[in-house]
Amino acid sequence: MSAVAPYQPGLEGIVAAQTRLSHVDGQEGALILAGYRVEEIAPVAEFEEIVYLLWHGSLPTPTELETLRQELAAWRTLPGATVDLLAAAARERLPAIDALRMAAGTLDLELPAAMHVDAKLGIAVLARMPSIMATYWRLRQGAEPVPPDPALGHAANYLYMLCAEPPSPAAVRGLETYLNTVADHGLNASTFTARVIVATRSDIVSAITGALGALKGPLHGGAPGPALDMVFEIGDPARAEAYLRAKLEAGERLMGFGHRIYKVRDPRAEVLAAAARTFYTASADKRELYALAAAVEATAVRLLAAYKPGRNLQTNVEFYTALLLHGLGLPTELFTPTFAIGRAAGWVGHALEQIATGRLIRPAAHYTGAVDRCWVDIAARTAAA
Ligand code: ACO
Repeated sequence: MSAVAPYQPGLEGIVAAQTRLSHVDGQEGALILAGYRVEEIAPVAEFEEIVYLLWHGSLPTPTELETLRQELAAWRTLPGATVDLLAAAARERLPAIDALRMAAGTLDLELPAAMHVDAKLGIAVLARMPSIMATYWRLRQGAEPVPPDPALGHAANYLYMLCAEPPSPAAVRGLETYLNTVADHGLNASTFTARVIVATRSDIVSAITGALGALKGPLHGGAPGPALDMVFEIGDPARAEAYLRAKLEAGERLMGFGHRIYKVRDPRAEVLAAAARTFYTASADKRELYALAAAVEATAVRLLAAYKPGRNLQTNVEFYTALLLHGLGLPTELFTPTFAIGRAAGWVGHALEQIATGRLIRPAAHYTGAVDRCWVDIAARTAAA
């Protein structure tokens, strides 16, 4: 019998994969995407460049980039059955992330045989996710869905399909920076889920659907909405201390703070805070919201150090995600789905890497149940009752 490692709750510190996609250094506060520091490339790269980098390991040449742009643009239109499903979900006013998860399972409909190979399916999945979300959101508002515009890039087209008007270059840059920042992040819970699924020799669409389910929870991708709600509820920097203290006294977690890996400030928080600042300098009321968020952040970090000494609970990516996406005009309900649209680049990249190099992922469990019981049939159990 092979040796079994000691039980590690939450698999903390366990190495379960090798990857060339990204590296997270929680002590130094660094995120490296295929060799580049996130703060160096996220604010300047086009999302398609990051996708190519993650999937191929190097930045694309102009021809390679143009090919990827065209391939993504070619598969944005949704199958009719997907739109019908979204319409049914909209009639029930389901949360946007649930509609995305349901529709993700239909992503391999209406594709020619040549697209039913892993790498090609990855392109179709990535291309169609923003179309799903924008179509759903418009159906939920009682508005007509907007067909995709093949002349626009991935980020710009998502905004266009949501709002039915060409987005400003500043908004496109803001969204592109966001999508780049969250495109990949080591072996996080949803990426691990995707790898586990394809490691059984299942398929990319199943992997993305499963990853969406893992991302939805508030301990992973579901935190930015509640983080923004918290800032709005506080409303005034003078109320931050009392409000946050009350939450911590009640044993609640502050959304947007703490991380399994980062024990210093999440480097993505800085990239997103800088991107958000540009949207909050335009008018006095917007500047006020930014100042309020900064005050809430400072107070939260100070109180977390006092209430949870030695835990090093710092600002994570979700806090400034909330502020940036709100600044871009996205409704709170679309924060987690938009995170998924960015992270899908990493999910597909990891799935392809797992398919190429991996082995069935099958950890062990320590059994803690009863032993040596003897079967008692139903008649005897009835008599004894
Ligand atoms: N607010 C208050 N206390 C916290 C927080 C927080 N945000 N985060 C952790 N703690 C406390 C825990 O209650 C625990 O306290 P205890 O030792 O007294 O029981 C201690 O700090 C350690 O917490 P763990 O649960 O062991 O930390 P873990 O590494 O499992 O959790 C997590 C990381 C889930 C992100 C956690 O910090 C959290 O719940 N944060 C709030 C939700 C959030 O922001 N999620 C987004 C994460 S980023 C992402 O996934 C994209």
